[in-house]
Amino acid sequence: MASEIEALIAGLSKPQKSIAPKYFYDETGSGLFEEITALPEYYLTSTELGIMDSYIDEIADIVGPQASLIEFGSGSSVKTRLLLEHLDKLAAYVPVDISEEHLLESQRDIRAAFPHIEVLPVVADFTHSFSLPSPATMPRRNVVYFPGSTIGNFEYHNAVDLLRVMHEEAGAGGALLIGVDLQKDPAVIHNAYNDSAGVTARFNLNMLRHLNREFGSDFELESFRHRATYDPDEGRIVIELVSTRQQTAHLGDATIFLDEGEAILTEYSHKYTLDGFAAMAGVAGFTVSKVWTDPKQWFSVQLLLRN
Ligand code: AVJ
Repeated sequence: MASEIEALIAGLSKPQKSIAPKYFYDETGSGLFEEITALPEYYLTSTELGIMDSYIDEIADIVGPQASLIEFGSGSSVKTRLLLEHLDKLAAYVPVDISEEHLLESQRDIRAAFPHIEVLPVVADFTHSFSLPSPATMPRRNVVYFPGSTIGNFEYHNAVDLLRVMHEEAGAGGALLIGVDLQKDPAVIHNAYNDSAGVTARFNLNMLRHLNREFGSDFELESFRHRATYDPDEGRIVIELVSTRQQTAHLGDATIFLDEGEAILTEYSHKYTLDGFAAMAGVAGFTVSKVWTDPKQWFSVQLLLRN
C-alpha cells in the first residue's frame, strides 16, 4: 500500500501526469464498466461476443480436446462461459487475477455452472511470469485466453512483454486466443469512449473518488472533466481527466499542482491493423494462425501459435 501510493505519486509528479488504468476498477468502477459494455456506442463487447458466437464450433475444433484454458483476468464473462460450454473435455480452467476477491467471486459462479470442470484460480500479477497449477488430468495443451482487447491498454513495449509472458505460460504446443480491437472510422471509435449517456465520463471520474477513499487524497471531482480523443497516428484513444481550474490536491505526503486545462492520462486504448498486430505478436514469438472478424471488420478474435 505504501509502495502503491509512491507509484501513484510518481505518476502524478511527471510532466505528463498519469494514473494507471487499474484504478478504474473499484466496486463502483467495475459496475460502471459493466454498464459501458451494454452501451449502444461501445461496440467492442457485443462485436466480440458476436464473433465468438458465430465461430465457437470452429474455435473448439482448432483448440482440440483436453486443453487447459488459462484466462488472463478473472473471467465471469459470457465469452468465457461460451468457451467452457464448447471446448471439448477441458482439463482445467485457470483464471489468473491480481485480485483474490475478484477471483473468488467469479470462481463461485463458474464452479456452480460447470461442476465437471476443474477450476484452479491463480492469484498473480500476470504482467510477470507465474507458476501454473497442475490439473488432475494432464492437459494436452495450454490455451491462454485474453479477451476484450485489454492488450490495447498496454503501450507497445509493455504489450510485447505481456505477450512474452503469455508465450511462456502457453508452453510447448500452446496457443493464445485473444480479442483485438481494429482501426476503423475514427468517429466510431470516438463515440465508443464519448457515449451520450455519459457513463464513460463517470467511469473516468470515479477513479479520483476511488483514490480519495482508498488513499485519503482530496481530488475535487467537480473540478475535472472527462476527455477521450482518438490519435490516428498512434492508432489509439487517449483518455484523460482534464483540470477545469488551477488547483492542488494532496496524496500521501505529496501536493499535486494542476494548471487549468492540464490533463491526467488515465488510459490508452490501442486499435490495431491486422498486419500491425501480427508484427507485434511476432516479436513475442507468436504466429497468427487464424483471424475471425465481424462483417464490418471492427473487431477480431485471433488464435496465435507459439513459433
Ligand atoms: C477493458 C481496457 C478493453 O479500452 O475499451 C472502456 C476499458 N475504458 N471505456 C477499453 C474502457 C473506457 C476497455 N478495456
